[in-house]
Amino acid sequence: CGIVGYIGEQQASNIIVKGLQRLEYRGYDSAGVALLNGELDIKKGKGKVQILKNKLEANPSKGKIGIGHTRWATHGEPNDINSHPHVSESGKIALVHNGIIENYNSLKKELINKGRTFHTDTDTEVVAQLIEEIYENGNGDDLTFEQAVQMALKQVVGTYGLAILHTEEPDRIVVARKGSPLLLGIGDGEMFIASDASPIVEHTKKVVYLDDGEIAVVSKDGYEVKTIEDVPLTKKVHELAMSVEEIEKGGYPHFMLKEIFEQPRAIADCLRGRLDVENHSIQLGGLVDVLDKLVNAKRLVIAACGTSWHSGLLGEYLFEHLAKLPVEVEYASEFRYREALIDEDDVMLVVSQSGETADTLAALRTAKERGALTLGICNVVGSTIARDTDAGVYTHAGPEIGVASTKAFTTQVSVLAMMAILLGQKRGVLEKEYAARLIEELDRIPGKVEQILENSESIEEMAKLFTYAPNFLYLGRTYNFPVALEGALKLKEISYIHAEGYPAAEMKHGPIALIDEMMPVVVIAATDHTNDKMISNIEEVKARKGRIIAITGEDNEEVMDLAEFNCPIPETEDCLSPLLTSIPLQLLSYYIAVNRGCNVDQPRNLAKSVTVE
Ligand code: G6P
Repeated sequence: CGIVGYIGEQQASNIIVKGLQRLEYRGYDSAGVALLNGELDIKKGKGKVQILKNKLEANPSKGKIGIGHTRWATHGEPNDINSHPHVSESGKIALVHNGIIENYNSLKKELINKGRTFHTDTDTEVVAQLIEEIYENGNGDDLTFEQAVQMALKQVVGTYGLAILHTEEPDRIVVARKGSPLLLGIGDGEMFIASDASPIVEHTKKVVYLDDGEIAVVSKDGYEVKTIEDVPLTKKVHELAMSVEEIEKGGYPHFMLKEIFEQPRAIADCLRGRLDVENHSIQLGGLVDVLDKLVNAKRLVIAACGTSWHSGLLGEYLFEHLAKLPVEVEYASEFRYREALIDEDDVMLVVSQSGETADTLAALRTAKERGALTLGICNVVGSTIARDTDAGVYTHAGPEIGVASTKAFTTQVSVLAMMAILLGQKRGVLEKEYAARLIEELDRIPGKVEQILENSESIEEMAKLFTYAPNFLYLGRTYNFPVALEGALKLKEISYIHAEGYPAAEMKHGPIALIDEMMPVVVIAATDHTNDKMISNIEEVKARKGRIIAITGEDNEEVMDLAEFNCPIPETEDCLSPLLTSIPLQLLSYYIAVNRGCNVDQPRNLAKSVTVE
């Protein structure tokens, strides 16, 4: 979900709605605003921000202070009544909330016993009612709005990013954070609030990130941050590095296509200053302080979700091959809830584009508690995971807005490759000539990605033939097995076609039963030492009339002769081939989804960053 708030001298509604559109990638089941102009004026409902915008244009809301929300439903179906903002019984308090209130049921019962009436199924309404109950009936003292919020939050179990308005204290917005990101943008006589930097960047570059357990009172001239226990804090003001252009489509029909085409630049930015091609060395500034510990680690545990988990799996192949370091790759959600064995001899590496994924963050915290060194690979600068890890490496891909991850994946893999080479060198297990070849080749990857993108039209043509396929199978071996998983995920996410990724040899143990003339099979045959095996798998598919789409080296005539369709990729080192083979798969899923009329940037039911479990 996304939160925006404004307080200043301008009409708040325009600023908030524009901000919500920037945040819509985080959830788009419903949207709403509350403006404060003497009284609260609330407009909200099911559906995209555009619907809210139309409502506001037909019937404008006035006020120089307001909050807004775009929702990814957790409790309560995405209908008009369950959308945010939610109000207290008297209508004097309005709030927007990201996260989940775990004890909302018991709080609700208590409040009902005190005579309060509820109007929605949401956990959020409980917070509004609880604040009002405390504000009105408190502990006998006259409480301020801020104090009532503090007292209410002490009773709340769960996670929240909150922005709250009260008609009786109309010169302020009270915000609070626990487990769900929030930042303040500092303007000139105006302040902005948001759950990530994208709605703020066009107004100001100066931001303050709130940490868990903090609350802020925001007025037009400034802000005061405290803990929930009322200890005043001095927060560091950060300078945002992103630009407005980076969060706009720049002439492309979709963010996803823009981000696919940005990859040569994104990967180059990721490698810049880190690869020293002349001296065949790698510098990762973020790891300098922990390098010794990393070099001597007994084991690396990688935890992530979704696409980032696929990068993590590639990380396992890369670290084991290049650095001879044992690796476990974990779904963050599984790691946190089973009795995973991890201790101070291990290193935990979490991979997350957003740096906010709830399960990944929880896995990180578990590892930290057990004494492991924690490292992060994040894209969003200043994100919670980036700040909570002991050390890490940013991917520098620039903002990724399309819900289906593309440039974040290839830059994560680029970072993992650099880390594995560096570690292999430091551990003395990587042959000098091989390291040199890999470093030179990494440097050529952006150019090779560019070459693949120049052929996008042929993939667009091919996509037309497969637009209505009901199923897809993706097969790969070694480094291209995670790519098969990622290719299948991309197609599922944006075109709603059922797709599965499999290690090619495992096909015989199940998926082969599905193959017939209706079944496109994408084979990623771009690793030399498994080439013969892939050829056998292709023959097995063909014998059952499956239709082969091959992603293979441009010189691999054997595979190309067998396949019905080919996406040739430039030759490269085997272990770096995912950086190239993943590109045609991104394009294939993009064009199929567009042909099917799907909303590519905001696929149904998904959200860009999943800050709830
Ligand atoms: C969501 C997104 C995916 C992403 C995953 C992990 O499911 O839709 O694209 O891969 O979360 O996100 P993270 O920000 O941790 O990489």
